[in-house]
Amino acid sequence: MNNLILGGAGFIGAHLAARLLRDGRRVTIVDDFSRGTRDAAIADLERSGARLVSADLTRPDPWVLLGQDWDEVYHLVAVVGVRNVEQDPLRCMRVNTLATLNLIDWVPRKARVFYSSTSEVYAGGVAHGIVPVPTAESAMVVVDKPTAPRAAYAVSKLWGEAALSHAGAARGFDWVTGRFHNVYGPRMGMSHVVPEMLARAAAGETPFRVWGADQTRAFCYVDDAVEAVVRLMRTPRATGRIVHIGTTAETHIIDLARIVLSAVGVDPPLQVLQGPDGSVSRRCPDTSLLYRLTGHVPRIELPEGVRRTWQWYSTSGLNAREGEAGRSDPAAVAATTSTAPTAPAPVAYAAPLAP
Ligand SMILES: NC(=O)c1ccc[n+]([C@@H]2O[C@H](COP(=O)([O-])OP(=O)(O)OC[C@H]3O[C@@H](n4cnc5c(N)ncnc54)[C@H](O)[C@@H]3O)[C@@H](O)[C@H]2O)c1
Repeated sequence: MNNLILGGAGFIGAHLAARLLRDGRRVTIVDDFSRGTRDAAIADLERSGARLVSADLTRPDPWVLLGQDWDEVYHLVAVVGVRNVEQDPLRCMRVNTLATLNLIDWVPRKARVFYSSTSEVYAGGVAHGIVPVPTAESAMVVVDKPTAPRAAYAVSKLWGEAALSHAGAARGFDWVTGRFHNVYGPRMGMSHVVPEMLARAAAGETPFRVWGADQTRAFCYVDDAVEAVVRLMRTPRATGRIVHIGTTAETHIIDLARIVLSAVGVDPPLQVLQGPDGSVSRRCPDTSLLYRLTGHVPRIELPEGVRRTWQWYSTSGLNAREGEAGRSDPAAVAATTSTAPTAPAPVAYAAPLAP
């Protein structure tokens, strides 16, 4: 089985690549390394047989070189993260739409495509109290203000959901869209709430600041998210469906802080601060469709997932993958998904890219 992971040097993509290699798949990763880095995890993937291609997938030429002999294509390429998007909303829209447009113009008919979307496509409705939480796929999609910089991400992902669906129908390829909800774990980059809190706890911050302490999120350990992706791709009944991926274990941010502090082994007093502007007070998926389709039940509870994440960061270094620890703004990071720096990477790809 030839598996292609677009954006595979990133957080979820590299975990997915490791899993597919363990399953005996032939894996090729394409990434422009604008966020994914050539670190020890990527070297491990290469040692395990993954082929790595550096290319900017907003350009048309790499797609020609990819050829058509692919059984499964995982599309994870995106500019992700609140701060990242707000700094350059047009880049977010360009990358997220152009890479997807190039994909649907190229995709081999025999390939099954996974498209990664997000809870942000309905978050505007949660903010206005018109979308229920936990939220099912049938909930109306609501983008609060399309002209607001942070809406660029939600609009581009919503466009992608529609584009995949129409292209699949017109061109006759199979697709499934997964909407990820607060996935966390090793190597996710420092500008996310879990590693950002781990870094402050390890630095001995006291009092320990907790923004939006009464907000809730349902944090999904990356292995559980990857298992959901794999099952959806192996479930014919999931074809042509949009499916929520995450857990239903809603956690208050203050409880996340306590779990983080316990993992690091420190016990400072907590200082509760107001949540960041624009972050929703609750986010939790209804995952019953995922369960009905695949039987998937998340296995890693938050304390264990945080312990594993801390173990990775404490051995790999708190600056591992992205040197952003010193640059991350904890208030901005609090209770968001991610906010990574955006330095464009040099583009280099070598023909042929086909498997
Ligand atoms: N992590 C989450 O909780 C979460 C939540 C919702 C949705 N998602 C979606 O899941 C996918 C993966 O997320 P992630 O957390 O692994 O993000 P990530 O930033 O770690 O991975 C995205 C990868 O895409 C690559 N990329 C960006 N522009 C590119 C280009 N022009 N050409 C080639 N590669 C390019 C980046 O270098 C990076 O490695 C994204 O599409 C994201 O929108 C993630």
